[in-house]
Amino acid sequence: MSRRMVIAGNWKMNKTPSETRAFIREFAPLAAGAEHEVLLCVPAIDILPAVEAARGTNIQIGAENMYYEESGAYTGEISPDMLTDAGATHVIIGHSERREYFAETNETVNKKVLKALEHGLIPVVCCGETLTQREQGITVDWIRQQIKIAFLGVSADEAKKTIIAYEPIWAIGTGKVATSEQAEEVCGAIRALIAEIYDAETADAIRILYGGSVKPSNAAELFTQPDIDGGLVGGASLKTDFKDIIFWK
Ligand code: 13P
Repeated sequence: MSRRMVIAGNWKMNKTPSETRAFIREFAPLAAGAEHEVLLCVPAIDILPAVEAARGTNIQIGAENMYYEESGAYTGEISPDMLTDAGATHVIIGHSERREYFAETNETVNKKVLKALEHGLIPVVCCGETLTQREQGITVDWIRQQIKIAFLGVSADEAKKTIIAYEPIWAIGTGKVATSEQAEEVCGAIRALIAEIYDAETADAIRILYGGSVKPSNAAELFTQPDIDGGLVGGASLKTDFKDIIFWK
């Protein structure tokens, strides 16, 4: 097993372009020399300043969303060409906040995943259950359905490059982190599903992240689980202390 860990930030709707420049200038020296991949997914308007500020560093810049059409009359949307031309390398797809507030479905997630891959963007595909679903005992069934649909039409080679983020909705922004056993159980089930859809080699290559109230104090406990290959970090990626999650060991 030779998966390289990914420590990714998701800024959500935070930081202006000038705040982005200032943050990355201060943060880049702190993240230098990290053993893991470092990724910051930022609001669309912050991508260009982020890419410029991160040039020559080990920080990769990604988007938080993207539309699945090439171009045209889709007011307010961002196309894959716009992202790649601006220098983004990754794109978060199907975050629970997009599903909840912007009506994204498993089907639109699948279209976006396929389109991102077609353009050489690495999708960070999000999945996760609500507290009710966890209490109903359907967590793994739900996640399997989300991932199965998200990966329809994706080849094994493309799947190997893709990143999955398991983010239990009840743990996002709540300070309530999943236990390492809960997170590992689901990330392990996702890896087993990837083996079922593709093969053992693909399952072994794909990176599966945990997200939901990751902080410097709980990072090591989560990231030492066998099927957890890093984190997708919201609130704690907005401060330069994010370096403590990157250098969790
Ligand atoms: P928090 O780290 O703020 O809980 O957010 C997690 C998340 O949604 C990352 O995508």
